[in-house]
Amino acid sequence: MRLILSCSGALALTLLLPSTLALKTGDWKTCSQSGFCRRGRALSARAQAASSWTSPYSVDERSIELASDQAGLTAAVTSSLYPAIKFGLEVRVHEDGVVRVRMDEVDGLRKRYDEAASWALIAEPKISKDIQWTVGKKDVRAVYGPKKDIEVVVSFAPLRVVMLRGGKEQVVLNGQGLLHMEHFRTKHEASPAEEGDEAQTVVQVNPAAYFEGETEDAFWDESFGSWTDSKPKGPESLSVDITFPNHGHAYGIPQHATSLDLPTTTGDSPFFSDPYRLYNADVFEYLASSSMSLYGSIPLMHAHSADSTVAVFNAVGSETWIDLSHPTAKSTQTHWISESGILDIFILPGPTPDAIFAQYARLTGTPALPAHWSLGHHQCRWNYVSSDDVRTVQKRFDEDDIPVDVFWLDIEYADEHKYFMWDEKTFPDPIEMTNDVEALGRKMVVIVDPHLKRADNYPVYKSASELGVLVKPKSGEGEYEGWCWTGSSSWIDFFNPASWQWWINKFSTKAIAGEWTWTQSTDSIYIWNDMNEPSVFNGPEITMPKDNVHHGGWEHRDLHNINGMLLPNITAQGLVARSEIPKRPFVLTRSFYAGSQRFGAMWTGDNLGTWEHMAVGAPMVLANGIAGMSFAGSDVGGFFGNPERDMLVRWYQIGAFQPFFRAHAHIDTKRREPYLLEEPYKSIVRDILRLRYAMLPIWYTAFREASVTGIPVLRPHYVVFPRDEAGFSIDDQWFIGGSGLLVKPVTTKDATEASIYLAEDQVYYDYFTHHAHRGAAAGKHVTVSAQLHEIPLLVRGGSIVSTRERHRRSSTLMKHDPFTLRVALSKKSEARGELYLDDGETFAYQTGQIVWREFVAEQPKNTKGLRISSRDLAHAKPGEAVDGVALTSVSPSNPFAKSIESVRVEKIVVLGVSSKPKSVKTEGGAELQFTYTAGVPASGNKEGTASVLVIKDPGVAISKDWAIVLTA
Ligand code: GLC
Repeated sequence: MRLILSCSGALALTLLLPSTLALKTGDWKTCSQSGFCRRGRALSARAQAASSWTSPYSVDERSIELASDQAGLTAAVTSSLYPAIKFGLEVRVHEDGVVRVRMDEVDGLRKRYDEAASWALIAEPKISKDIQWTVGKKDVRAVYGPKKDIEVVVSFAPLRVVMLRGGKEQVVLNGQGLLHMEHFRTKHEASPAEEGDEAQTVVQVNPAAYFEGETEDAFWDESFGSWTDSKPKGPESLSVDITFPNHGHAYGIPQHATSLDLPTTTGDSPFFSDPYRLYNADVFEYLASSSMSLYGSIPLMHAHSADSTVAVFNAVGSETWIDLSHPTAKSTQTHWISESGILDIFILPGPTPDAIFAQYARLTGTPALPAHWSLGHHQCRWNYVSSDDVRTVQKRFDEDDIPVDVFWLDIEYADEHKYFMWDEKTFPDPIEMTNDVEALGRKMVVIVDPHLKRADNYPVYKSASELGVLVKPKSGEGEYEGWCWTGSSSWIDFFNPASWQWWINKFSTKAIAGEWTWTQSTDSIYIWNDMNEPSVFNGPEITMPKDNVHHGGWEHRDLHNINGMLLPNITAQGLVARSEIPKRPFVLTRSFYAGSQRFGAMWTGDNLGTWEHMAVGAPMVLANGIAGMSFAGSDVGGFFGNPERDMLVRWYQIGAFQPFFRAHAHIDTKRREPYLLEEPYKSIVRDILRLRYAMLPIWYTAFREASVTGIPVLRPHYVVFPRDEAGFSIDDQWFIGGSGLLVKPVTTKDATEASIYLAEDQVYYDYFTHHAHRGAAAGKHVTVSAQLHEIPLLVRGGSIVSTRERHRRSSTLMKHDPFTLRVALSKKSEARGELYLDDGETFAYQTGQIVWREFVAEQPKNTKGLRISSRDLAHAKPGEAVDGVALTSVSPSNPFAKSIESVRVEKIVVLGVSSKPKSVKTEGGAELQFTYTAGVPASGNKEGTASVLVIKDPGVAISKDWAIVLTA
């Protein structure tokens, strides 16, 4: 149910939409209701039906110009349909082998939007210096790469761009001949189809008909429901096919509620009849399985096979539909249809998933390193209704010893939904309230949406209006007005640079002369940006009309999918700017685009309290992760509905294994904070939360790696085992960073066991029971117990994981807690792991204030013993840079390291030692106490409970070098 609270703030509710949980699919277009999508699909239908089909686009070989540095080439392209229209093609190879292909109309009637990449990219990519293009009769080609095995071929007639590796085609642009850039035209210009009198003669007289069809389908104004899009620029859509001839699996293009291995959408696909749609939209109560649009769009697709991984990033900001099919089990065909913009495609050569992550991160950046506290447990609801309510909720958590780091306030904190303005009746003391929360090391997150109430008594709206930074209606004059939570609203146009510093200043907790700033807030208040698709209750498809006008005169249609990213971007800057010692921002966003990972976290929006929604949240979070947005999660409990207790327990279990971990609920739901549960459910949830807190060092280390390399925090099977065919469609179990933890949360009712797939011949230990499971080289499923209180969680042999197991009320209180190391020996009796620590909240890590350790367990030569050691990794990896700081400059005695030098390792647990050691000693030091429980050794093939050696209080510090030797 969508409610508009009356302006008076009293509970007079206007029901905008009915409260059933049935999805109103009719509120959003299908492809057949969208003119340009229809045209794009009709093109591909004609291509398929034709006995022979050739793209009309070709390169004029006389026009080819190689850049002076050889790395780029430009050429003129024409279409035989419209010989008078000119297109310009540019192909460039980046230093890391990424190929960028751009095409734009030259001297067209109007300019196409060409700025999408500039919002996504972190910098202008560096162009390769060692490219040699060879211009031939039929094509121009270049061979490159460290092994000289990558080749890019631009064929002239028809135009095709192909990337090959080892002579095998990897990515083909326009291989199916579906490239079409609709040129700008004037409304009365006769289209080729109109030039003849009769439809039949048209087909003969004009070749355009075979390609474009005989009628002008929705070229100009177009209606959907009661809305009409005036489309003043007319048709300008862009169609291109991208084929992966040797890759049978495709992943990415979030956000859709579907499996990670993307199902097909064409022909008689048993899955979806519509293409995947990327058009950021507030699809509340969305279907749990659909190719429909959701809140965010990242036009990045991985194509994968056991031989290699490649990817394409299509830097387009307008509405885009993507058809996907597998002509054979080993190949993938896609067809991308966008409403406007230039062609700007990046081909990422891989050849491994990790290489793709690095290539994509070099383009769009890595996820920001989050504040440590933001990896804790977040408690949200629409709404905690007063500052006393917040205090009571906090008290109840503490009374029941349930850890939580953040309390959230939804829109009802704000007087008449005028964001920033506390409702003084219910929140008379916001600073004191926040201080009370902060006293236990906790934070608050408060919602700030992008729609501003058009009220004279709202200084944020007034100043935006005076500054002229609000989105304009189609006339290009005045302020666009629409409806959202606040009633009559206007939207900030963040494409207008004049809005940036103004918005940054809003977050200042101090007064700034002549400006309204948020003095009624503290540095412990962080921000939730919602409704930024943008959601407009009375707009077409519940968003902004496409003919609205943004800064620079661009239509909303041109940049719709980018729009949502700017609010969290500038908000994050505001949070950094407000503190004297800048702190890492935390901003949660619902809408996002390529590059949003640099600014904060996202969540999967308004899910339902159903098992299907719980389950689909997992592949959605995985898909976001491989597209850069690692800091992702789904509403725990389901936003709509009242989950039964067992469902809620399972939901906490899956939430605890997603990067962003927040419980949230709709205003109509019953309260369901964990302290309200009866036993045993309450204790089960408390244990899950304690497990999450114990594992914070693992999460933080994984985030740090993601922030440097772009490798996602949650790693699906194809990422960890890229050659293991059997794992390519698995998306209900995943690894946490490089820790070796493999989890398979239960998402079905009444389950008592779970089947986990092991991709390799390795031992995997049950995290809780220490049962040693044996994988197999050919892949194997093992069954684990999964009663309601049990989470299927394994540790991969060969890993060392660090945890902190003291029970605390918040993560901040764990700063000086000791560590436990779990050494899970591999079949070869070896293991390694990493631990990354820093102050968790400032940017001091960028100046080398870090602790980065490597733990190694190995058998010393010619012995059957074991040596477990810790060394300083920051110092030992010369040349590698963290956020621009060469790690050679990191001193092991940097101030942060010093601040935790007394933090100990309190326990070392070694799984799979083959026999009871004769002695355990610190190297060059004292004999240590240990217990040993005989069991299955890591080596061999025995199943059963592993042997467990526990060294209690080994007397070593977490940040220092040490070694412990077990003598057999
Ligand atoms: C949207 C959000 C939801 C929030 C609600 C009220 O529906 O997705 O999380 O609670 O708005 O702000």
